[in-house]
Amino acid sequence: MKFILNLYRKVRSILSEFKYSIANIGRFKVSESANLHHIGLNVVDYEVSLSFYEKYFGAKRVRYFNDNDVLDADKTLLFLNQVEEIPIVNKNLSLWHIGWSGEDAQLEMDWRVKEGIEVHTPVTSLDEDHFMYFLGPNQELVEVYTRKKGHAFEHIHLLATDVDATMRWFSSNLGLDSVYRKAVDNPRGFKWNFITVNDIDIVVFGKPEGKESWWLNEPFEPTDNAPFGHLGFSFECVESIYGQLKSANIEIVEELKQDPVYGHKTFTLRGPDQLLIKIIESKKNCTD
Ligand SMILES: [Fe+2]
Repeated sequence: MKFILNLYRKVRSILSEFKYSIANIGRFKVSESANLHHIGLNVVDYEVSLSFYEKYFGAKRVRYFNDNDVLDADKTLLFLNQVEEIPIVNKNLSLWHIGWSGEDAQLEMDWRVKEGIEVHTPVTSLDEDHFMYFLGPNQELVEVYTRKKGHAFEHIHLLATDVDATMRWFSSNLGLDSVYRKAVDNPRGFKWNFITVNDIDIVVFGKPEGKESWWLNEPFEPTDNAPFGHLGFSFECVESIYGQLKSANIEIVEELKQDPVYGHKTFTLRGPDQLLIKIIESKKNCTD
């Protein structure tokens, strides 16, 4: 009986592999894998936001190119773009929140509250772990989740109308493959999957079957002017990547140029569900 069961599983796995290979024939895939470079925030007060992430999440203020102060969150950078106002609040946005890991859930909550942080969601248990959400200075959501322990920057959380389509986008255009080949069912009634890049998880939740506070049932708005405005990914040299994406008809929002503020070569893409994605050249003196 055990032999038959094992044989059945083996055959099923081979068939699934075969089906996957067939489905991927002819699918565009960029020639290299991207690294996670930064998260772009729109903020109304540069200093207030710098201090918030330093004080409550241990991010470090570092110099990036000329005189720009950016934040280093355990090697993922936070770029702050000061704007007059942030028009998008309570909209359906694919870039939902960012999260740090935590140790003792109640302690994580208590010391921050004592120091004056605004709480969005109190300590909530999830299996053996706990999560909580805080509000940043521009009403952005910042999570602490105790699964991984430690206090490092841990994840970026996205929402998607179709989790598998989002994962295909990341695989094709950034060379980043999801951990599960297909989205898996969460017992709470939605599909999900994730990518791990530079030790950071990019977690994607799909549309829930029931009502959930985090899904607004409205079309996704472009993230461009939201508190979390974009994700930045890097390749060593970008000219060839730019050419590949352009010939694959990926929507380019800003053409390849030298960034006037940060100095690097960059271009901007429209990702899944209106997510804005910037591509950065990380190597100095590329000759391509
Ligand atoms: Fe999260």
